Amino acid sequence: MTYARIVATGSYLPPRVVKNEEFAARLDTSDEWIRERTGIRERRIADPSQASSDLALEASRAALAAAQLQPSDLDLIIVATSTPDYVFPSTACLLQAKLGAGRCAAFDVQAVCSGFVYGLATADGFIRGGNAKRALVVGAEVFSRIMDWNDRSTCVLFGDGAGAVVLAADSAPGIHASVLRADGNYAGALSVPGNICGGRIVGSPYLQMQGNQVFKVAVKVLDEVARETLAAAKLRVEDIDWLIPHQANVRILEATARKLGLPLERLVVTVDHHGNTSAASVPLALDEQVRAGRIRAGHRVMLQGVGGGFTWGAVLATM
Ligand code: UT7
Repeated sequence: MTYARIVATGSYLPPRVVKNEEFAARLDTSDEWIRERTGIRERRIADPSQASSDLALEASRAALAAAQLQPSDLDLIIVATSTPDYVFPSTACLLQAKLGAGRCAAFDVQAVCSGFVYGLATADGFIRGGNAKRALVVGAEVFSRIMDWNDRSTCVLFGDGAGAVVLAADSAPGIHASVLRADGNYAGALSVPGNICGGRIVGSPYLQMQGNQVFKVAVKVLDEVARETLAAAKLRVEDIDWLIPHQANVRILEATARKLGLPLERLVVTVDHHGNTSAASVPLALDEQVRAGRIRAGHRVMLQGVGGGFTWGAVLATM
């Protein structure tokens, strides 16, 4: 039996730090409101010269270096992003060329904040099916580009960044189970409902969100999908060493851990200093914990996504 194992992680944050006070200085908001309602203190914002593929490149190089692999060793590159460099070609193809990764398969996954988990589950399928031996899965976003910077209800929430993992085929798990779900009936609750038509943007190019509705659905489905994934892996909540849900709001993270009956010490929180980086949030949080020496080989980690679509999902892996 062949399994996929996460053998290395990497991440990249743009250097510019934007603290809550910057918003409070020009909008009707406050550091106190943002901290209390979301847990966010600060986020990183990319330079206008940096595209998602540039952030992805830095995170991928770090992950490949940690794996002691060359770009040419890869059979597959998946980039999860909702802020691609172009309409096409895919950000994964641009990343492949920047890395010098040869002619391996490369494509993007569009599942908004669940994109990394969707990408990981997809790469797991490639490896278990014998169609790839080594895969790079990246979440990379520049959500600062799709913010209405005058809308206090959304612009304070998001940040930019990228995270990456290298997966390799192994005779032992690795990834035990993954569950992916979606419900397109909620499409209007979280969207950027614009497109390009005849040389013009038609509709809105800015993120719109029914925050309250998203909040309630997120807590419900993160709990459900964690339990479904544990059942598929024939494991119990007590078997989870670390829970890494999509980093949207510390209240959603803590509610999820509480519903599962998981001690808060096992919950990974990075939203306080990353903000919500959409598809990048889970691999960014994973890499931060790995490099801090908290998540180590043998630890069991539940990774969870939830976001626009709606989409949600979870991957349970032994590191
Ligand atoms: O990444 C995909 C997943 N995304 C999420 O999971 C986000 C989920 N949603 C949330 O995290 C929360 O719903 C928010 C943080 C977006 C909002 O928190 P909330 O506790 O649900 O607040 P609310 O939307 O019910 O708004 C409460 C009040 C409103 O004022 P009124 O109508 O009560 O007078 C808002 O206008 O807070 C106001 N408000 C703000 N006030 C100060 C909204 N944004 C701000 C702000 N500063 N930045």
